[in-house]
Amino acid sequence: MDKTVVLITGCSSGIGLSLAVRLASDPDRTYKVYATMRNLDKKERLLECVKGLHKETLDILQMDVTDRQSILTVRGRIVEKRLDILVCNAGVGLMGPLEVQTLDSMRRILEVNLLGTIQTIQTFLPEMKAQGQGRILVTGSSGGLHGFPFNEVYCASKFAVEGACESLAILLQHFNIHVSLIECGPVNTDFLVNLQKVELGDTSLQEVDSHTLSLYEKYLQHCDSIFQNAAQDTEDIVKVFLDAIQSPTPAFRYFTSSVMSPFTQMKITEPDGSQCIRAMSELIFSAEEQ
Ligand SMILES: NC(=O)c1ccc[n+]([C@@H]2O[C@H](COP(=O)([O-])OP(=O)(O)OC[C@H]3O[C@@H](n4cnc5c(N)ncnc54)[C@H](OP(=O)(O)O)[C@@H]3O)[C@@H](O)[C@H]2O)c1
Repeated sequence: MDKTVVLITGCSSGIGLSLAVRLASDPDRTYKVYATMRNLDKKERLLECVKGLHKETLDILQMDVTDRQSILTVRGRIVEKRLDILVCNAGVGLMGPLEVQTLDSMRRILEVNLLGTIQTIQTFLPEMKAQGQGRILVTGSSGGLHGFPFNEVYCASKFAVEGACESLAILLQHFNIHVSLIECGPVNTDFLVNLQKVELGDTSLQEVDSHTLSLYEKYLQHCDSIFQNAAQDTEDIVKVFLDAIQSPTPAFRYFTSSVMSPFTQMKITEPDGSQCIRAMSELIFSAEEQ
């Protein structure tokens, strides 16, 4: 039987790596995985995880989602000449007071998270449409459904991805192509190490008012505690990806945990948004108010 051909972006670490390992090591050898990463010097970690199982189920290719030529090159290297499942996972964070973020750093985030995701989909869309079947899975974030202070540009990029995916999902059902967002809360990956973060001692913060700084300090403590106490392992996220991949009728959104459900619910029951904003502020800064 033909293998299901899967391409995943951002496989050097974290969610992308774990998903690539799981699919390439599938006991039934159902999948052929094209695991892509922007820097092939990082491929050893993935190779170690699959422990030689990779010969017929895994191919590791260089692809930077901000570099259209690299996406086209990867498309040309898919030997099966079709793609059944596209997983847009590559992403980066940006954290700190908005007034110190440079235009360049904001552009980089939008280029990877938003335009990188869109141009990857764009590149594979014509052949998926021609095939008359396929799945597009995108690693979403609670930061794409809820605003978080000091993450304005990251949240903007992930909210925008939601809009792009929802728009596409409506059209692509006419081509038997399912679009799904896997909405993640905090996950134990290299994300916090890789994100562009303004550190508390950074000279750029000298320009920032003291009230913002004390709230930023509070936010960083909150963030540490959330990652320590509520972060999921990548295996939990991979299970949700598998649900979406194996379902005959995949949903548009999958939530990997219920940690943000009260806030998501509030968006529907209190559509003017004030209660949601107050509750989020209390959750994050409550120690400040006491
Ligand atoms: N971890 C969380 O708490 C969390 C929560 C919600 C959503 N997410 C989302 O999950 C996705 C995966 O993140 P992760 O948690 O697994 O973090 P991660 O370990 O930092 O992985 C991010 C991956 O994206 C890759 N990447 C960055 N820029 C790229 C580019 N221009 N082209 C191709 N690949 C690029 C990174 O490659 P390099 O190694 O070369 O940098 C890395 O492989 C992201 O979209 C993130 O927004 C994560």
